[in-house]
Amino acid sequence: MRKKILITGGAGFIGSHVVRQFIKKYADYQIINLDKLTYAGNLLNLKDVEDAPNYRFIKGDITDAAFITELFHQEHPDAVIHLAAESHVDRSISSPMEFVMTNVIGTVNLLNAAKEMWKGDYANHRFYHVSTDEVYGSLGETGMFTETTAYDPHSPYSASKASSDHFVRAYHDTYGLDVVISNCSNNYGSHHFPEKLIPLAINNIKNNKPVPVYGKGENIRDWLWVEDHAAAIDRIFHQAKAGDTYNIGGHNEWKNIDLIHLLCRIMDEKLGREAGASAALITYVTDRAGHDLRYAIDSSKLQNELNWTPSLQFEEGLAKTVDWYLENEEWLENVTSGIYQDYYKEQYAEHEH
Ligand code: NAD
Ligand code: DAU
Repeated sequence: MRKKILITGGAGFIGSHVVRQFIKKYADYQIINLDKLTYAGNLLNLKDVEDAPNYRFIKGDITDAAFITELFHQEHPDAVIHLAAESHVDRSISSPMEFVMTNVIGTVNLLNAAKEMWKGDYANHRFYHVSTDEVYGSLGETGMFTETTAYDPHSPYSASKASSDHFVRAYHDTYGLDVVISNCSNNYGSHHFPEKLIPLAINNIKNNKPVPVYGKGENIRDWLWVEDHAAAIDRIFHQAKAGDTYNIGGHNEWKNIDLIHLLCRIMDEKLGREAGASAALITYVTDRAGHDLRYAIDSSKLQNELNWTPSLQFEEGLAKTVDWYLENEEWLENVTSGIYQDYYKEQYAEHEH
């Protein structure tokens, strides 16, 4: 029943992996990628699949309620997988309102359109909301986030994602919409925008520039390979009960400074540099305001109920990620120079509404 799927934010980092996996695995589905192409949206991320017969791209803004309603009337999607968001914590500190608009208002616009369009047949439609572990706040030295951990967001980004999660659940409890939510830990892998820690560090090490480490580098994140996240989304989308929530994570906690040292060792080896050359670039900088100390996800519900497990060990995944960035210099050059933003005009300008 769920054959025409509207994926929002499909030109971003995680969205592009979800779109690719669905295009390749489900030839009989129609995948529509709705994306505004903000600075974080890059159609070059999907260049290898852009001509697939079961794929279409639509440029549009989820904060535009009239546009979203019209899109639902034109396309009649059977399901939504919602990834579009402002996703960078540091940007949320300088521009919180953009996060409220996209992450909260944009999500509610999609919920309203789905509620109206699918009325009377909620059982055959699904609204999947992709969220983050940051809604749970910060852990001390022990413990893990479970699906029942109370929400305690600290940054404007996590507050906006927490708010959107609450709206999604409210539309299930109030109107009976079939929703599912997943809360995932930090992702890493190919096509990651180089404002986030791992791709930024790879790019800076490659170019012999300082690698900024916030505070003392003691904050801990739980890293998951992005393709494992996309595989978990596939499983949850198809198998979860309506109204359910799953945590997704790799049981892979790293102190930032230890992760950066590992990355430096891998880069020294790949670039044929003397041992320690990359680590010499590490520079401690002023800490992020409200910096959460530690995230750790208990994903046993997903593992036990839906039989999902991460496929890659971190050292292997990080080495693979470094290889991807070194082999895709053009992608990195396009992103850092801003040229990627011209690609849409060249490829898709005639489709703009
Ligand atoms: P990203 O910033 O790389 O991509 C976001 C995409 O959304 C971009 O393509 C952008 O153009 C699009 N977008 C932004 N505003 C839009 C709007 N108003 N209308 C339509 N499209 C818009 O983000 P990401 O890292 O791929 O994250 C995707 C989702 O997963 C987000 O909801 C994020 O909160 C969540 N998440 C991310 C991580 C992570 O580690 N990156 C972990 C857990 C959850
Ligand atoms: O936990 C899931 C979240 O992970 C997602 O919801 C967010 O969308 C995603 O951006 C990510 O948030 P983080 O803030 O954890 O990721 P970021 O890569 O920005 O930072 C990772 C850690 O590294 C964090 O402790 C801050 C630190 N850091 C980050 C940057 C960019 C540095 O020390 N130096 C840096 O230059």
